[in-house]
Amino acid sequence: MTDPRDPRGLRSDAPLLDAWLRFTAQAEAGELTPMSVPGHKQRRDLTGAVTAGDAPLYGGLDTIKHADELLAEAERRAARLWGADWCRFSVAGSTHGNQALALAAGEPGQPVVVTRALHRSLLLGIVLAGLDPVWVLPEVDPASGLPGPVPAGAVQDVLARHPDACAVFLGDPSYVGTTGDLAGHAAAAHRAGVPLLVDAAWAAHLGFHPGLPPHALAAGADAMVTSAHKALPAYTQGALVLARTGLLDPARLHRAFEATHTTSPAGAIMASIDAARALLARDGEELCGRLLRTVAAARDRLRQVPGLDVLDGPGVEPAKLVILLAGTGAHGNQVEADLIAAGMPVEMADRDTIIPIVTLADDQAAAARFTDTLAAIVEAHRGPPRRPVPAASWTVIPDVAMPPRQAFFCRNETRSAAEAVGRISGELVAPYPPGVPVLAPGEVITAAALDALRAARADGGRIAYAADPTLATFQVIARA
Ligand SMILES: Cc1ncc(COP(=O)(O)O)c(C=O)c1O
Repeated sequence: MTDPRDPRGLRSDAPLLDAWLRFTAQAEAGELTPMSVPGHKQRRDLTGAVTAGDAPLYGGLDTIKHADELLAEAERRAARLWGADWCRFSVAGSTHGNQALALAAGEPGQPVVVTRALHRSLLLGIVLAGLDPVWVLPEVDPASGLPGPVPAGAVQDVLARHPDACAVFLGDPSYVGTTGDLAGHAAAAHRAGVPLLVDAAWAAHLGFHPGLPPHALAAGADAMVTSAHKALPAYTQGALVLARTGLLDPARLHRAFEATHTTSPAGAIMASIDAARALLARDGEELCGRLLRTVAAARDRLRQVPGLDVLDGPGVEPAKLVILLAGTGAHGNQVEADLIAAGMPVEMADRDTIIPIVTLADDQAAAARFTDTLAAIVEAHRGPPRRPVPAASWTVIPDVAMPPRQAFFCRNETRSAAEAVGRISGELVAPYPPGVPVLAPGEVITAAALDALRAARADGGRIAYAADPTLATFQVIARA
């Protein structure tokens, strides 16, 4: 008989899921009197339903002394599925995964080749690890204003100029789903004797259908980070770090991963990563096939709306839906507000672009409801067509004055925006989404960066991580 709590019968191939189902069944039946954390003790009469389903990995899914073995078995199964020989499950997102790989990559002061379209989590990883980033820039497509990949030759050139670099760290697919020549980057990195590390936060489904690009490890990367909670049906925060060791030392990876991971991982998050992995292993091709058909149908539908376009073509991840609004004259933030009011929140919206996330949990009916609603909303906001303007996050050309770690620990002072121009930023400032820093610690605050940030804010964007998100003042490195 099918267990309604495990409708696809995944537990026989998912040890953490099996343990979570057993523990929570016992808890719900009132069979437990735990004398260990969590402090809610499985009672619902204090903080209520919000803790339902919560079970610690250690002392819940298995005993505090033995849960490691259960976790290792689940991680071994994931490593096998992705063709890795090292895998860890994280309850702290690709944020933690990126930071773990940065801490595993090199020594303080060593150069690392990094895309400037990096997520802010990796920039903080570079601060933690004390690496010295050598930036490579993505190409920007003038027609859409969106970033493409980092050109293959760019990484090769930078590696030739920095023979002491410890690694190449790229984001692929990009936030907007554009993909690059990972095999070429891997070959260049390996010729230089360094690993290729890939932030594949959005791409946990890649490689599981012939219509999808291979995942980063299959393309030749040495390690990848991916958010199970983004592309797969896993709990928020669930992520995987996968590696093929050789150029990376497994003991160092382990130390780096543990350095900033909690000692109390949530069993539900861990079990959901395990369940998502079991689902991909068994039904991945069927579900990814449905996803590809769903996105293709959505793209076709949206292209019928006059002026509306979608990102498409050989360098675009086929399961990503990126909607280009400029030709309709509608403003993305107004469209987003109406979508939220219709119960259809999207991942990202700025003036010219809307990015809904379609996953293998969506079917064509759900996607059609979304595209029909979007088409109607666009009609309500239609205006004169305009040229798209690339967002600051994709066009920043950093003026680097000192390495990010050195700047992070310098004494700061608060200066008005006008006074701050020409000074060195002590802080990271990023419009969110996409969370790509327009200013990083150690970079000169240029008039262009200030204008771009102001434009993003004036257009309704959220300015994240700045001490003063109004941008009236900035934290600059104090003069001695
Ligand atoms: C490219 C990229 N990397 C990493 C992350 C961080 O992922 P998480 O939210 O799982 O920590 C994000 C978040 O959106 C992202 O866009």
